[in-house]
Amino acid sequence: MSSKFPDHFLWGGAVAANQVEGAYQTDGKGLSTSDLQPQGIFGAVTPRVDGDSGIKDVAIDFYHRYPQDIALFAEMGFKCLRTSIAWTRIFPQGDEETPNEAGLAFYDRLFDEMARYGIQPLITLSHYEMPYGLAKKYGGWGNRKTIGFFERYARTVFERYKHKVKHWLTFNEINMSLHAPFTGVGLPEGSSKSEIYQAIHHQLVASAKAVKACHEIVPEGKIGNMLLGGILYPLSCRPEDLLETQRQNRDWLFFGDVQARGGYPAYMKRYFRENGIQVEITAEDQQALRETIDFISFSYYMSGCVTTDEAQNETARANILNMVPNPHLASSEWGWQIDPIGLRYLLNVLYDRYQKPLFIVENGLGAKDRIEADGSINDDYRINYLNDHLVQVAEAIDDGVEVMGYTSWGPIDLVSASKAEMSKRYGFIYVDRDDEGNGSLERRRKKSFYWYRDVIQSNGNSLKDPG
Ligand code: BG6
Repeated sequence: MSSKFPDHFLWGGAVAANQVEGAYQTDGKGLSTSDLQPQGIFGAVTPRVDGDSGIKDVAIDFYHRYPQDIALFAEMGFKCLRTSIAWTRIFPQGDEETPNEAGLAFYDRLFDEMARYGIQPLITLSHYEMPYGLAKKYGGWGNRKTIGFFERYARTVFERYKHKVKHWLTFNEINMSLHAPFTGVGLPEGSSKSEIYQAIHHQLVASAKAVKACHEIVPEGKIGNMLLGGILYPLSCRPEDLLETQRQNRDWLFFGDVQARGGYPAYMKRYFRENGIQVEITAEDQQALRETIDFISFSYYMSGCVTTDEAQNETARANILNMVPNPHLASSEWGWQIDPIGLRYLLNVLYDRYQKPLFIVENGLGAKDRIEADGSINDDYRINYLNDHLVQVAEAIDDGVEVMGYTSWGPIDLVSASKAEMSKRYGFIYVDRDDEGNGSLERRRKKSFYWYRDVIQSNGNSLKDPG
């Protein structure tokens, strides 16, 4: 395929602190909300007992092994690595006046290591975690004070890393709070819709304040939002299905609308009114929201369908996002429907709507891998998945969509977010660790490692049009 990718396209991979670092109490780190969810982002909130070992406590030990891992990413030719800063390494409880120097020093070492290979960091300020201290003492994002604590944290890391980090993201999959409120906004199970939207509102204000701070402190930098791009299709062409699909797509596009357009979209007023949702939005909040992001980033794994047929919806409620399956698509081993064309469609939808550059910051296939007798791992299923999605990215670029880069999810095997499993592997690099935490943590290149290296080296020329 002849390359349609621009010369400075940011090829790379994406990980998150709580899924790779481990070292959950090292160098003064405080407990995060993620540390209290050993079963994953939908799991029960479980008090920590000293010496017990949730899989994330060690994860893949990136905290200590990052030099080796960065060297492997460099071998693939990465231009960019997305990771997050664990807020609790910097402000262990969340409400301290001064930051924890040992935590700041860790990310200095990490960014310096990346710089040695010319790998640009893309840094998420909050990826599915916040200090548990804030959830416990203040009720998480339900409390307005959390905006100030987050702003202090954001300003601290912008000041510290302004010469090392030029690309930032505020909150990972900010729309996920609707499905996992403790993970997203630190609210307990059973919170009301008004409480959840109030917390979301505070988070949106905090996001805008971080954007403002970034513009002031890192003027040549760029800061984006991060959406879970769960694009939905109508299951049928019944007008009712179409209208319901538009409504459900607005459930997540709402976040992008606020962050990219600088205020609440009109349709939310009716939604709030008809659902009895009360949200306090002050004039000062509205002013703060006017500071908009520079680019849109999103994750894309699958699409889904919407129907007004109650019987089909009943079955769909079994899956995480209540998506109705598309009869025209195959699924991964975890039931996620594989839809490369959906990525081209989504890129076009977002670009038409916002006219801002787009960054695909997560995409990939979670699958079980087998090590052959000769030690090789032949993950052709992963290669096919990624190839077919990247071909559609190239198509979207040809459609005129401005795409800044692509960071595949989990370039090295890591702990999965939804169920805290190691066996759901996304990596080009295998990590020897199982769901019980057994294994040497040794790293091993898979077949996809060499495939991705060639894709990057050829700037997409080596991709194969599936025809
Ligand atoms: C996204 C998250 O939802 O999907 C990641 O931002 C997560 O943190 C990824 O790991 C894949 O989900 P899972 O559950 O397969 O790890």
